[in-house]
Amino acid sequence: MSIPTSKISGVPRTMLMTLRARADEQANSQPIIQDPLAVEWYQSLTWDEELDKLYNSTSQKSLAIRAYHYDNITLRHIANSSQPIIVELGSGLSTRYYRIGQQVDNWFDLDLPPVIELRNQLETETEKHQLIGCSVMDFSWMDSIPKVEPENILFIAEGLLMYFDVSEVEQLIEQMRFRFPGASLAMDVLNKIGQKLGKKRAEQMAELEAPFKWFTKEQEVATMGLSIINICRLYRDYRQHWSLLVKLLSWLTPLGNIYLILETKLD
Ligand SMILES: C[S@@+](CC[C@H](N)C(=O)[O-])C[C@H]1O[C@@H](n2cnc3c(N)ncnc32)[C@H](O)[C@@H]1O
Repeated sequence: MSIPTSKISGVPRTMLMTLRARADEQANSQPIIQDPLAVEWYQSLTWDEELDKLYNSTSQKSLAIRAYHYDNITLRHIANSSQPIIVELGSGLSTRYYRIGQQVDNWFDLDLPPVIELRNQLETETEKHQLIGCSVMDFSWMDSIPKVEPENILFIAEGLLMYFDVSEVEQLIEQMRFRFPGASLAMDVLNKIGQKLGKKRAEQMAELEAPFKWFTKEQEVATMGLSIINICRLYRDYRQHWSLLVKLLSWLTPLGNIYLILETKLD
């Protein structure tokens, strides 16, 4: 029996695309990530056909590569911390904990209450893996994070911050810097060229009530009190996984720079 997702609207419905991208990746002979649970969850849920206009082979590949890149950031953090804590902000239906995180004693997946209600139908929360149902802008979630040296904490904002306007991003980062100085924050950002090149996609996102609002570049992110530790150019740094067309476009046009995954430290 399928679990209905019809009550999930606006930005939260986009999490169905990222789940599907990971599930569809499993059909490849050499998937970039191993994620059998994504297949199970995807098959348990109803697909939102409104998302068909956004979901295609390029978006599938982008989302799978993005998940793989964040997995690597997370694995490095786990390997380098004495007491790692992972907090996925806007986790959606992320299965990262099951994929790579079960050795971690404190893993938090935070998303809006309807998303967490849905997750509760798919999985059982444990002491090690907790689900927090609240807006990331309701800063009370910060009280749920154990009091450890902040260097142990990695916040993951995968596919989240472009849905906020700049003043919300600034408020969130300011609060996180105040509460967790020295912690790591990984985030993906679209730049202003991406805003122009992706005009059609942006219009489709707006029709789904999930408009992109924040377009930025690494220099602007650095002015928010974050030190940038590493930058991944999604369409350029994973050439081996892209079709010839994307490879060419990412070298010959600004496409290569439009989508960045930034590893930062809260100063
Ligand atoms: C594109 S999905 C990404 C989901 C997941 N991070 C992934 O990559 O699979 C965006 C997610 O942000 C969540 N989100 C949007 N606004 C939020 C808010 N104010 N607080 C917490 N989560 C939010 C949505 O519910 C949705 O799950």
